[in-house]
Formats: sequence, C-alpha cells, structure tokens
Amino acid sequence: MEKEMKIGIYPGSFDPVTKGHLDIIERSSKMVDKLIVAVLKNSSKSPLFTVEERVSMLKEITKDIPNVEIDSFSGLLVDFAEANNATIIVRGLRAVTDFEYELQMSQTNRIMDENVDTIFLTTSLEYAYLSSSTVKEVAIYGGDVSKFVPSYVVDKIKDKINALNNGGHNE
Ligand code: COA
Repeated sequence: MEKEMKIGIYPGSFDPVTKGHLDIIERSSKMVDKLIVAVLKNSSKSPLFTVEERVSMLKEITKDIPNVEIDSFSGLLVDFAEANNATIIVRGLRAVTDFEYELQMSQTNRIMDENVDTIFLTTSLEYAYLSSSTVKEVAIYGGDVSKFVPSYVVDKIKDKINALNNGGHNE
C-alpha cells in the first residue's frame, strides 16, 4: 500500500521571518514529507512588510530546503490545512508565556477539525527571546539586527525602513 504523504503547516505572521522561525522550519521540515510555511493574510497587527514581501523573503531563505513550500492564507487555519491535505500544524514554543495561547489555539483547531494535530517544538535557546516586533523596533531605531534575522532579511529591512523614512507607505 502506498504510504500517505505527511504534510505539515507552519503558520504565522512572519513580519519579518527571524532566525528563530528558520530554526523551527529547518527542524520541522525533517519530520514531515512536505512543510508548507503559511503567511497569515489580514492579520490584525499592522505589518511592516506586505504579505507578498514576506512570502518572497521566506522563499529566498528556504530555497535550499527541498520539501518546504511557502504560501499565504486567510480565514481559518484548519480550512487551509484541509485544502492542502495537511494533518500537522507546527508551532514553536519560546517560553512558558507562549503556552496558554498556543494551547488554546491548538485545542480550538482540534475541535474544529479532528484530523489536524498541532506539534510544538521548543525554540532553540539562542532564539528564545526573539520576536518579529523586537526585530522591527531595534531596526527602526538604527540597531543591528544581523544576529536576529538572516542576512537577506537584514537588507530587506534596511530598504523598507529607508523607503518609509523617505515618505513611502505600506499597504
Ligand atoms: N522565533 C522567533 N519568533 C517567534 C517564534 C520563533 N520560533 N515563534 C513565534 N515567534 C513570534 C513571532 O515573531 C510573533 O512576533 P510578533 O508578535 O512580534 O509579530 C509572535 O511570536 C507571534 O507568532 P506568530 O507565529 O506570528 O503567530 P500569530 O499569533 O501572529 O499567528 C496563527 C498565529 C497564524 C497561527 C493564528 O493567528 C491563526 O491560525 N490564524 C488564522 C485564523 C484561525 O484559524 N483562528 C483560529 C485559531 S484559534
């Protein structure tokens, strides 16, 4: 009998993707046949990067991982999972403060779709403190973010902040 493909989804805002996210992508991609990294559209957060820009950055930094695909989604995560035949949701746990929110999300998702399970990876210690908001704050005040995000993303953040400072605006 043919083995069913195990498809996982790693959802998030990725505004922007950090080394902490990349760590989770690299590790979880080894646990599934295909990992879809899915950027949430219409998040209530006001983003620095458009969804297209976030997708494009993710594509660039994961281009050497063959079983990773990048996509975006709106609406319910379980609907996106079902549409992509995914049965696993991957989330990273940085600290105990993430736990309550993540538990609630995974239980809600499981009630909505019993075919989908969430697996949690503990974020590598060196990235446990990281968040996209912190990265943006450091960058906006001129700090060096090269320890927090891949070098490709460092350049994109610089370009974006320069464009905003020169009167551009984000959609
Ligand atoms: N390394 C670095 N940062 C990390 C991280 C890691 N390993 N894991 C999480 N983070 C940070 C993110 O950078 C982000 O930081 P920010 O708040 O400063 O932007 C923060 O943790 C939140 O993580 P994120 O992964 O972006 O989650 P989210 O809360 O924005 O989105 C979804 C979570 C997309 C899974 C959820 O909102 C969702 O499924 N939405 C769809 C609607 C739905 O189905 N709702 C029902 C579910 S109950």
